[in-house]
Amino acid sequence: MPASGSFGFGDVKAARLNDLNRLGAVVLKTTTKMAKKGNPQPQIVSFKEGIMNSVGLTNPGVDKVVEHKLPQLRTHYPNLPIIASLAGASISDYCVVAEKLDNSELVDALEVNVSCPNVAAGGMQFGVDPLVIQKLTSEIKKRVAVPVYVKLTPNVTDIIECAQAAKDGGAEGLTMINTLYGLRIDPQTRKPVLGNKFGGWSGPSLKPTAIRMICQVVHQVDLPIIGVGGISNAQDVIEMYLAGASAVQIGSAQFNDPAACWHILDELEPEMDRLNIESLSKLINEVKEGF
Ligand code: DOR
Repeated sequence: MPASGSFGFGDVKAARLNDLNRLGAVVLKTTTKMAKKGNPQPQIVSFKEGIMNSVGLTNPGVDKVVEHKLPQLRTHYPNLPIIASLAGASISDYCVVAEKLDNSELVDALEVNVSCPNVAAGGMQFGVDPLVIQKLTSEIKKRVAVPVYVKLTPNVTDIIECAQAAKDGGAEGLTMINTLYGLRIDPQTRKPVLGNKFGGWSGPSLKPTAIRMICQVVHQVDLPIIGVGGISNAQDVIEMYLAGASAVQIGSAQFNDPAACWHILDELEPEMDRLNIESLSKLINEVKEGF
């Protein structure tokens, strides 16, 4: 599935050019209570080894998403599972947004974003404190009926604690991982490349961190994991399953190329044949038993 932020609300070029029915699901851009204009430009700068972003959760606000964006997507693609991502500046904000999105006619699951590094309130500060993760997850779970995934941040020293907190709060699953908090400086201008200076780092160089964290969590916390972080080809997908993911999201690669998910899907079966892999789901169990 395209990761949150790489696919807008489905009203993007990638959706016009490709067959969305081949995807496992789509994850929409994170939605907040009120509309957000986002951070100063430049918000996104690509390098050969990854992407720096400080978008700042640009979105039209939950009411517009529920009234327009979601019904449009559902009408065009009735069989496509939709995961709505959400964030808030306080626990009660998150709950308001979650309650509004909790309509199984429109969404199939929620992804609670506790890991955006680019907003002063309503991002990573929720995801670095296990007690807050647990409290937030349980408050949301009290109010919604659709399954809840929590998207974790890599900007912590103990990822297992954070994953366990999401489970204790009642999450049905985890999305791992969001971007790494970073800074890139342009040697020519001698200034940070992003308008907001600091930002989230993603792309192939993030993959070993994602693989390590997923592998640690899958052995300790009994929850399904959607793997995300630096996947750009079929081998990366297989590596994510070997680490313990049972589904994957494509972020930076999809951002760079609107057909990335579909190229990876095309490559996947031949690559599985080449490596004698019968089914991806068997890989997850093999790793759990033999690690
Ligand atoms: O790196 C990120 N950028 N992660 C998020 O969760 C949100 C996004 C943004 O909008 O800044």
